[in-house]
Amino acid sequence: MPDYAVLPAPSSNRVYTQAALDLVCAELTVLAGGALGGRLADFGRREFAGVDYVTFAADPLEPADARLLGYASAIYALFELTVDGLLRPVAVPSPDLYPSDLLTILKYQGKTNEQFTRLLLTTTAAATDRPGRLAERRMRVLDPVCGRGTTLNQAAMFGLDAVGIDLDRKDFDLYGPFLTTWLKDNRLKHRATTTPVRRDHAVLAKRYEATFARSREAHAAGDTQSVTFYLADTARAAELVRPGTVDMVVGDLPYGVRHGSQGTRGSARGPLELLDVALAGWVATLRRGGAMGLAWNTLVAPRRHLEGALTDAGLEVCTGPGYDDLAHRVDRTIRRDVVLARKP
Ligand SMILES: C[S@@+](CC[C@H](N)C(=O)[O-])C[C@H]1O[C@@H](n2cnc3c(N)ncnc32)[C@H](O)[C@@H]1O
Repeated sequence: MPDYAVLPAPSSNRVYTQAALDLVCAELTVLAGGALGGRLADFGRREFAGVDYVTFAADPLEPADARLLGYASAIYALFELTVDGLLRPVAVPSPDLYPSDLLTILKYQGKTNEQFTRLLLTTTAAATDRPGRLAERRMRVLDPVCGRGTTLNQAAMFGLDAVGIDLDRKDFDLYGPFLTTWLKDNRLKHRATTTPVRRDHAVLAKRYEATFARSREAHAAGDTQSVTFYLADTARAAELVRPGTVDMVVGDLPYGVRHGSQGTRGSARGPLELLDVALAGWVATLRRGGAMGLAWNTLVAPRRHLEGALTDAGLEVCTGPGYDDLAHRVDRTIRRDVVLARKP
């Protein structure tokens, strides 16, 4: 069984500092168990000529395996270790449909790091019952606390449909014009609208919706994707998003701190208070076999409380190697972790 070595993206060290290699290992372990069907094993760390790599064993990788590895957030390069101790490059195609500035142009306090957002999305996809649909670009993602849309943009990059909800008016007011301008600048055929959503003669939310295609040919063939953003309280998610229509709920919950790089945005609720009022609605939007991936600050809420809330809401929390190893320090006031769970 050949061994492979992953050279992590240099940005990992900046994003995760000391935990970088552990996190790359954990992400690949989760992806391997889901999308890659357990065909990759024995993840570990190894140094070659003073450079750190993550290594694993696998049957010779098929092109489809390499394609799935391309979804990982931190792969810079992949090598096969030859019998004479050399590193032979293996091509890893990128799944990104669009230029990376879709993710990097918007810069603001409280933005969830793009690389971490990708990790959250790919590990949640791996936790669903049909992880292969990620590479088929056939998943619908809901970020119920979407801020200024990092998850929406990452999902769009992968060719997925994305829905976001946030009650921060500034985030809503800035996101729509940003995406519409970006679509225009990139000459992508699109349609964008902002409309009120009414229920019982009252305005429940404001909705921005963009429908677009990655090429003229795709547009002509009706192969389009959409990004929708609701300005609303996420406690009303089930009134905005039809039940059972979402494959993944992915969110970086409010950190519940006043200091640090994330600040306190929107409502001042911490993660558990928000889950109390909103989790049932988020679960309702998920289809059976769909998965939820939530990031939160463990310094304000211990993992067992998050797991308890998800279990009480009827989800099956994923545990074991990889799933239990995603915690990392963000700054002095934030230690972030990820909980993944599936709707049975
Ligand atoms: C950590 S931030 C998410 C940042 C986002 N991932 C991004 O990169 O822009 C948490 C978000 O939760 C939102 N939020 C908090 N309470 C909410 C509620 N009740 N309804 C909707 N959004 C809420 C905040 O406005 C904030 O944007």
